[in-house]
Amino acid sequence: MIKIGPVHGADAKAFAALTYPRFRELLGAESTADGTGRRVTSIGAILEGRPVGLALLRHRAAGGDVPGETRMLSIMVSRGYRRRGIGWGLMQHAISAARGAESRKLTAYHSNRTRGREVFEAFLGASGWTPPKLAEFRLGGHADWTEKLTKSWDPMMRRLAGLGYAAEPWEDITDEDRAVADALVGDRESFNYRTFEPHIDPAISLVLRRHGRLVGWIFGESPETEGYHHYTNGYVVPELQALGWVVAGLHDVCRRQAEIYGPKSIAVYETVGENARMIGFMKRRLVPAGPLWVDERYSSALALE
Ligand SMILES: CC(C)(COP(=O)(O)OP(=O)(O)OC[C@H]1O[C@@H](n2cnc3c(N)ncnc32)[C@H](O)[C@@H]1OP(=O)(O)O)[C@@H](O)C(=O)NCCC(=O)NCCS
Repeated sequence: MIKIGPVHGADAKAFAALTYPRFRELLGAESTADGTGRRVTSIGAILEGRPVGLALLRHRAAGGDVPGETRMLSIMVSRGYRRRGIGWGLMQHAISAARGAESRKLTAYHSNRTRGREVFEAFLGASGWTPPKLAEFRLGGHADWTEKLTKSWDPMMRRLAGLGYAAEPWEDITDEDRAVADALVGDRESFNYRTFEPHIDPAISLVLRRHGRLVGWIFGESPETEGYHHYTNGYVVPELQALGWVVAGLHDVCRRQAEIYGPKSIAVYETVGENARMIGFMKRRLVPAGPLWVDERYSSALALE
């Protein structure tokens, strides 16, 4: 007989193989240790005394106008026990737990690199979840990847220099530049450079200019994982995007990264799934250059009304 119920701290080890290493410390915990204090639920399936399935959930309580939401961090059934309804049973318990935490929906993320992605998507579909939607597009490569393409990019860089292109350190911008940047951003929150500015790494953040006037920026961040540098916010006025200003900016910023952090440090570019324009650009201009990886992150949801 299959038994499905909460996994307590003492049993966490026995279930560890049923989730990703990065989530193992959450197993059996009451709340996350990341300072947010979000509640965690671990639901285990046991057959003849052996752990055979696990669903790990993290609840975000409602706040203001934002309703409560439960994220399914992982759900897994041991290989030899699949297709017997255990996943379905875990899902029903997950739904009850999410309702119990007063969440209005369940969400899950997976990537194009998730092993068995098609099975997982079929499983979610069978459980009434929405079809996966692109949430984030990311690619990573060594900082020297642009150097390898220098020959093919040199003519473009010369052409852009002739059109007034220049890239300089963001930290040197003036008040006048800020006024121009504020006007460009307007009230579009996702472009608001001021939100990202406190987190940037000045060594790899550039202001892009045309004939001296600010026309955009590229912000690099250097999070704690050594050797990884993220480019999460970049903007160039639309009329110059088509001329290759962003490509030139990336080329310059990668050169800087290679000089400062080494040619084999990793440059990761990421953009939200709704930014079709940037994703199109990345696919056309960056993917053919042979990145180390391309990561499409998908989200699915189940409304709990
Ligand atoms: C996804 C997973 C949890 C499903 O567990 P499971 O116990 O096999 O699922 P169930 O037997 O309850 O299946 C429920 C329904 O999902 C669908 N489904 C499950 N496996 C499927 C498969 N291989 N192909 C097509 N549909 C599938 C079916 O509709 C199934 O109902 P049915 O058997 O009546 O047709 C399991 O395959 C798994 O652990 N995969 C690896 C881990 C993983 O990828 N996790 C996702 C990332 S966190």
